Amino acid sequence: MATLTPPIKVPSLRPCGLRLRLSRVTRAPCRTRPRTRVMISLSSMNTRFCRQYLVSSPLMLAPMGGCAGGKLAAAVSKAGALGLVGSGGESQKYLRQQWSISQAQGGCHGFGINVAQVNAEDLRTLVDTLKPQVVYLSFGDVREKGHANAVIDGGAQVIANAADVQTVVKHADAGVAVIVVQGADAGGHTDGRASAFAVLPEARDALDAAGHNDVLLAYAGGVADGRGVAAALTLGADAVVLGTRLAAAEESDYLATQKEALRGASDGANATTIGRFVDALNGIDEHSSGLPGRCLVNRSTALKDAWDSAPSPEARAELSTQHRAGVAAGGGDGAEWGTTWAGAGVGLVPAHSQSAAAILEEVTAEAEAALKRAGLLL
Ligand SMILES: Cc1cc2nc3c(=O)[nH]c(=O)nc-3n(C[C@H](O)[C@H](O)[C@H](O)COP(=O)(O)O)c2cc1C
Repeated sequence: MATLTPPIKVPSLRPCGLRLRLSRVTRAPCRTRPRTRVMISLSSMNTRFCRQYLVSSPLMLAPMGGCAGGKLAAAVSKAGALGLVGSGGESQKYLRQQWSISQAQGGCHGFGINVAQVNAEDLRTLVDTLKPQVVYLSFGDVREKGHANAVIDGGAQVIANAADVQTVVKHADAGVAVIVVQGADAGGHTDGRASAFAVLPEARDALDAAGHNDVLLAYAGGVADGRGVAAALTLGADAVVLGTRLAAAEESDYLATQKEALRGASDGANATTIGRFVDALNGIDEHSSGLPGRCLVNRSTALKDAWDSAPSPEARAELSTQHRAGVAAGGGDGAEWGTTWAGAGVGLVPAHSQSAAAILEEVTAEAEAALKRAGLLL
């Protein structure tokens, strides 16, 4: 039987009223969008992404479920980058609560949700009631069941992630405005096959060849300072996603013990591991992304060999009990026990505590300096 694919909708950009005053931009509220007012200074990294979303730096908060809540999303948007409430692995009620928190703190650009977590009808209701500017759809076919159209018909733009060139082109055909190329270095659940470093330039060529020059690309995975941002922009990215670095921010909903673990980690290749084991240890047979996850190495992840060679379900249950007891004794997930999702760039997270605004300012300045240095070398 032939499968019916929904027709492509061309996303309409609804620019809010824009007033330019010297080097400052004021984004006045759209009639149909939440009332957010952002005062920003333009950085010299004025990419197409900055102009499309009226943000001062080409940086985007990763839609990190349970970590990028309303507080962090609002702080990022207020600081002049693109802020999103992440709801991966969380309920729609949680998303609405966090959205209200973000609104109370000045608003943010949108929210993220995993495709497998929501049907198109509920997604349309979320878009109609929350009125985001963008919706980040993670881990799935955004066209097949009408997810992309639900967002576009509701008046918002779609951001979606992809790990290979084929999926990037498919997303563009479905009307996605910004495609995040998320590589193996990324924190949380990710496709372990290749780095975004290898995939993104080829994805740009493929989009241009297919007539999708207007579709933007963002880089995700392992970027935790301005040098990584500069490298990603040089590869052809229009924007860069920061996950782990902002998970450590003061406004993030990660536990204090998890932020401490991120700040204390060094040598990301050794400090993190990627696999499906941690989900199994936490009682999750298969994550909604269908992908392995990258997290910090600790005593919980060290149980993997014992888990793999466990002779019975009871022996595995005993290992899960050990893991939970360790978490409880340590006052939550953290450096010793538990699960802290983190990318391979975690070694670059500074040891001191920082607000989201301080992180974004520092990373932007570092990126501008790195791009200037690169220019001088040529
Ligand atoms: C704590 C944490 C939670 C995450 N949760 C989600 C999620 O719910 N949905 C999603 O699409 N990606 C999630 N990710 C992946 C991010 O969207 C992003 O691709 C990744 O953080 C980029 O790599 P980086 O952490 O090295 O910056 C998560 C990442 C982290 C670190």
